[in-house]
Amino acid sequence: MNAEQGSGSHHTPVLLRAVIAGLNIQPAGCYMDGTFGRGGHSREILKKLHAGGRLIAIDRDPEAVAAVVPELKRDPRFEIVKGEIANIRQIAVERNLIGKLDGLLFDLGVSSPQLDDPERGFSFRGDGLLDMRMDPTTGTGAADWLAAVGEKELRQVLLRFGEERFAGRIAKAIVAARAERPIRRTRDLADIVAAAVPSRGQRKHPATKTFQAIRIFLNDELHQLDLALQASVELLAKGGRLCVISFHSLEDRRVKRFMRNASREPEAYRGLPRIPENQRPPFRLVGKAQTASEDEVRANPRARSARLRVAERV
Ligand SMILES: C[S@@+](CC[C@H](N)C(=O)[O-])C[C@H]1O[C@@H](n2cnc3c(N)ncnc32)[C@H](O)[C@@H]1O
Repeated sequence: MNAEQGSGSHHTPVLLRAVIAGLNIQPAGCYMDGTFGRGGHSREILKKLHAGGRLIAIDRDPEAVAAVVPELKRDPRFEIVKGEIANIRQIAVERNLIGKLDGLLFDLGVSSPQLDDPERGFSFRGDGLLDMRMDPTTGTGAADWLAAVGEKELRQVLLRFGEERFAGRIAKAIVAARAERPIRRTRDLADIVAAAVPSRGQRKHPATKTFQAIRIFLNDELHQLDLALQASVELLAKGGRLCVISFHSLEDRRVKRFMRNASREPEAYRGLPRIPENQRPPFRLVGKAQTASEDEVRANPRARSARLRVAERV
């Protein structure tokens, strides 16, 4: 991590060249970046657009929206929307963009500024208030949720969204610990988890999966992703590209399944010379999943688990 990243305001975009190639940018095209973050991908898209091009960027985090630099705010080709990718269809409807997008990008998960600010509560490194909401103006923060959740539900969340094999032990330890005193800080939670599981031979911090699971659950991340993927069929114009970067297998599995199913001819018509228009698959796959090079991972460790998948609307 470089000094700028440490300042909590910088995010290095991952797989930048592959994303720009995957989007196959048309200079006069209309693009949507569903996960603006700090605009690393958005700025590169804008470089490829001429005056007739357009980019609508979305982020659910008010801090990301507030961090849009004046140069971008002044750019007539650019618009930032505070919103969720689950509502991407509505955002497109309001702008008369159904079926008109030439490219759609989702770079999922949290940004470096979100992770690096201890007060956002996303990280077990450092110590801050346990919040973990990407949009802190809505929903329940992690500390309040942990104070009230039943042990069984907690175990299920850790299993389903963290694939945590010690889910039972961790849920039990959290429930026991909160009976002593409330769990309000990231350090408290990290310590409780570390003490509950065997730590021998682990490369990752023992609380990695617990933090991931609670974050994914509280931000409804997988459901948001499903809705956004479904909407992409309607949003993209013919030839328009869908690019999705995921950071863990739960996300990538969904993206892979969606793209595979949406690019497959229906069983009943497979192998036939002509398929009725309304039975043709909406997408074709563009290449295989791409991962970051060793050089990129060295320069930006966040890129290690990134996986880009691209599909084209046909
Ligand atoms: C990995 S970062 C994106 C970084 C960005 N591509 C860049 O280069 O700066 C993910 C961003 O998407 C936002 N985000 C995640 N899930 C979202 C959702 N369901 N709806 C809207 N924004 C979301 C997060 O708040 C975060 O700012």
